[in-house]
Amino acid sequence: MKALVLAGGAGTRLRPITHTSAKQLVPVANKPILFYGLEQIRDAGITDIGIIVGDTAAEIEAAIGDGSELGIRATYIPQPEPLGLAHAVLTGADFLGDDDFVMFLGDNLIEGGITELVQSFQEHHPDAQILLKPVADPERFGVAELDADDNIVRLVEKPKDPPSNLALVGVYLFTSKIIEASRRIEPSGRGELEITDAIQRLIDDGGSVRSSKVTGWWLDTGKKDELLEANRIVLGTLEARVEGAVDDQSQVVGQVVIEAGAELVNSTVRGPAIIGRDTRLVDTYVGPFTSIAAECVIERTEIEHSVVLERCVVRDIPRIEGSLLGRDVEIGRAASKPQAYRFMLGDHSQVGV
Ligand code: DAU
Repeated sequence: MKALVLAGGAGTRLRPITHTSAKQLVPVANKPILFYGLEQIRDAGITDIGIIVGDTAAEIEAAIGDGSELGIRATYIPQPEPLGLAHAVLTGADFLGDDDFVMFLGDNLIEGGITELVQSFQEHHPDAQILLKPVADPERFGVAELDADDNIVRLVEKPKDPPSNLALVGVYLFTSKIIEASRRIEPSGRGELEITDAIQRLIDDGGSVRSSKVTGWWLDTGKKDELLEANRIVLGTLEARVEGAVDDQSQVVGQVVIEAGAELVNSTVRGPAIIGRDTRLVDTYVGPFTSIAAECVIERTEIEHSVVLERCVVRDIPRIEGSLLGRDVEIGRAASKPQAYRFMLGDHSQVGV
């Protein structure tokens, strides 16, 4: 079996948090979202992975390389324009050949991996297998209508009037029949070749499509500001480890990762939290659900339920909560008079003082 991972799409920033234009590379608990998916695919025994790339190809390739560090073999497949998920399947047709494959959206994260899903697909071997999850806002997703026996009756993409609350999760298992089905559909109202329409085509042609419900959490981090929420959930899954230096005046409590080269001086970190490589905390408190990326300096500050990206410097801020700091942000207290807030904020910044 192979995998097709979708990391294309237009280069829109997850504003205002990061200059990374590939939304699949935004870090969750200090690791790009995309890596979690690649690791789950690998853990299910699939190492031959085609990665669909678009505008942000260079960034994605720089992050993954040939894949050997992740234990996979990465093949990059350029998609000239993001013309839809079924278009991405067609773009990957040569790579996929006649093989069965898992298609994984690079900005999706699901709890517990895909090993059982892949096993059940191989056992029953339907033409396609989809995952569903009840959501509060089905109009933002592909939606499935099931009959009383849980057979799929209909799939619709982002319906104004959803037939159910069952959203399609961004992990699909396919035989090569989906390629043929994708060739036989027309672009949707939003001009995309929709994977929902291709699966519907399979159903209409009498193909077998199974569905199962996701019982654990599912995050589509491409949607709005789910970053803090994704961070909160994923931090709770990390195994505690301390590879950096913690001095006698410092305390590490609970589920905490201190990466190599990090240094705690008279500071407390209360988990779940992660402190990145070569980051230095001095006289600081880091509270639960916080990720501090590599090479930051945080001094005389309390911070909780926040995400701080690489190389930030924060000094003398009594309390920071529920905050996202992009890369290379500096926050401090000016000594000079007159006392005032002095800002240099990028586009779309939001500040609450
Ligand atoms: O997250 C689940 C949802 O994903 C499903 O419920 C929907 O049925 C499905 O259409 C999809 O909807 P989105 O609106 O979230 O798709 P998005 O445009 O965000 O694309 C998902 C990923 O695929 C994203 O990482 C970018 C990548 N992509 C997207 C398109 C349209 C490509 O690589 N090529 C493309 O042409």
